[in-house]
Amino acid sequence: MELVVMIGLIILIMGPVFFVMGIVYLSRGDKVAGSIMSVVGATTMGLLFWAYNVISHTNFSKGRVLRLKGRARVARRTLGEGWADEASPQLEGLTPYQRTVLGEAWMYSAGMEHASIPAFAKLSLKLSALGAPSELLEACHLAALDEVRHARRCFALARAYSGLPWSAGAIPELGQERPQRPISDDSDEWSRLVRGSLLDGCLGEGLAASVAAEASRRACDPVVRETLAVIAEDEERHAELGWDVLAFALERGGGKARQALHQALDALDEQRTPALPRIPGVDEDFLSRNGLLPQAELGRLMEECLQRTRARAEEWTQRPRVMMPPCSSSPNSSSSASTGMT
Ligand SMILES: [Fe+2]
Ligand SMILES: [Fe+2]
Repeated sequence: MELVVMIGLIILIMGPVFFVMGIVYLSRGDKVAGSIMSVVGATTMGLLFWAYNVISHTNFSKGRVLRLKGRARVARRTLGEGWADEASPQLEGLTPYQRTVLGEAWMYSAGMEHASIPAFAKLSLKLSALGAPSELLEACHLAALDEVRHARRCFALARAYSGLPWSAGAIPELGQERPQRPISDDSDEWSRLVRGSLLDGCLGEGLAASVAAEASRRACDPVVRETLAVIAEDEERHAELGWDVLAFALERGGGKARQALHQALDALDEQRTPALPRIPGVDEDFLSRNGLLPQAELGRLMEECLQRTRARAEEWTQRPRVMMPPCSSSPNSSSSASTGMT
């Protein structure tokens, strides 16, 4: 494994070196050598950037997504304090390369969990604007607090595996959002709430719950197993919050909300299983033992979640009127708070 790291480092360094040498040769008039070196250097840097992009934009699991102007956003990564609890997994027997892979995987989860906090804050603002009852607002804020704990734990694991003090940085795009215009015709707001609840809440958080539960069953490290079990329980409750918000929208949003539910059901067909990149040097067994599910298992869970979500939502389209339940997602305390994950 160390050999793989060495080769990676050499490639990482050689790209810019070749590019700069190419420029130097060109400036000295050696056009052939200069051009070849520049092209090789630029191509190497481009490939590395592409590989980094593939890994850092891959969905290992999905929770409530922070969408800004239609794009999913996460905080910039930074080094520092403030976003980690005391958890520490077993590191014995792991090579430096395996630790780097696990560190990156948990960094990805940390970014997604951290982004779910402002995502719930945005949902709270929207629910307030539409006059939602207190139980929904309470459940929304409790869910945001769950995500704070999830993010802290994921950062702690990423720091332990990588040996680097990773933390959450800024999300500049959040500050660039224009203030919303006063709602004159609020039918679009109800439609967006219906779509977001079905896709990001019911499906997205439902899938996150299933993935975390299965990953917990397969993980060997007790800290990783407990972390994933708590996340699974919390995400299941967040998915139920998605259904409660959907019920609220259908009860108050009228015909437009019902129409939006039919459109959102069509959009379920376009949802794809998150694709994992192939990571050289580690096999699926190693990833499974460390809480990362193989691609085939992700596909099976996605299919199960899609069918479950579709069946429950279709049932609602056939009822003359959907009544809001007494908020099934509003517990007295979160499961995270009652475990070591604080
Ligand atoms: Fe979460
Ligand atoms: Fe969540």
